[in-house]
Amino acid sequence: MDSREIEQVDWNKSFDTGIEQIDLQHRRIVEMINQLIADAPSAKGEVITQILQAMRRYIAEHFSYEEYLMREAGYKYLRQHTALHQRFIDKVGELVVAHEQGSLNHDTMIQFLLSWLLDHIGHEDQDYVQSVKLLQTK
Ligand SMILES: [Fe+2]
Ligand SMILES: [Fe+2]
Repeated sequence: MDSREIEQVDWNKSFDTGIEQIDLQHRRIVEMINQLIADAPSAKGEVITQILQAMRRYIAEHFSYEEYLMREAGYKYLRQHTALHQRFIDKVGELVVAHEQGSLNHDTMIQFLLSWLLDHIGHEDQDYVQSVKLLQTK
């Protein structure tokens, strides 16, 4: 395996939404990625599978919660945002299969998770913040 180290992710202010539950969940997701970065080089195959499955479950719950908030808030891009979530969940499912078949490079997997999630949290999720905040102050 590639011995180049992938660095842990520090929480970045641009990830904050100011919606308490969402920020807690996003922080937990970042922790899970950091755990994967720390464990991947030495962990056995089945441990990686477990981490990936746990991550997929947690992220799916987080997505459901976000979709609920967006629906309640009448966010106009709910359908598009939900489609992005679904595509990501499908992709993680594919990663789990590829990993089990032994055809998955850890660095490629981690880079994908990192870039997708940090981009999603830092950009796409920021787009619903105003609508959801308006709802919460009503
Ligand atoms: Fe999110
Ligand atoms: Fe999202």
